Amino acid sequence: KSTNETAVAMAQEGAPEGTVIVAARQEGGHGRMQRVWNSPLGGLWFTVILRPQIDPQYAAQITLLAGVAVAKAVRRLYDTESVQIKWPNDLLLDGKKICGILSELQLDENGVIDYAVVGIGVNVALSAADFPAEVAATATSLNTSLHKDFTCEQVLVAIMEDFGILYDKWLLLGADVVMKEWQKLNCTVGKHVLVKDNDQVVFAGTVIDVDEEGAIIVRNEQGIVQSFNFGEISIR
Ligand code: BTN
Repeated sequence: KSTNETAVAMAQEGAPEGTVIVAARQEGGHGRMQRVWNSPLGGLWFTVILRPQIDPQYAAQITLLAGVAVAKAVRRLYDTESVQIKWPNDLLLDGKKICGILSELQLDENGVIDYAVVGIGVNVALSAADFPAEVAATATSLNTSLHKDFTCEQVLVAIMEDFGILYDKWLLLGADVVMKEWQKLNCTVGKHVLVKDNDQVVFAGTVIDVDEEGAIIVRNEQGIVQSFNFGEISIR
């Protein structure tokens, strides 16, 4: 089971906006691209149910919003400026992943948003041995890296505080507020990257910008410019 699965079931039963499902550990944690998400004790694994009454074309912004909320909360709580966002919504601390976000959207038969679930996984107090071999070199845990001792509950409270403020601003004022903050926290522009779709490299070049919809604009060595609003990148 995963908190996203529980959240979807509860949303289908009518759970209201703002419902949060938290697990101490997950047996069936999912990541993006159908990957397994390692979710042992010591991490913060939770999902928020939202019911934004907006045009579904803007729904992708919810994931960016969540990334900004987590980055701001962690920066504040841990008193650090080292946390940055790697497009589209991985949070990195000194280049290593400390948080991943997986959102799912459900439309009703009229194409109107029924609910969105936003699943957030934060490596709070995992030790090196808690990471499987394939991610050990690219992931880290907040408490270990920043020499602090916060509980998952403290991190959750901090995140929900920023999440609430940002979500209300976004509903009221639109994407601008979120995108401005996202741009400031983003560490992707100027980097040489491989753009991947389901582990296949589809483009290589330098990120020149991230547009207001959250798509990255990449220029390759031939000067060809392409934008991507899907997939993921590896920074070289
Ligand atoms: C990723 O970076 O691939 C996204 C990881 C998302 C993990 C969180 S943990 C809580 C929620 N439940 C899941 O199964 N996944 C998300």
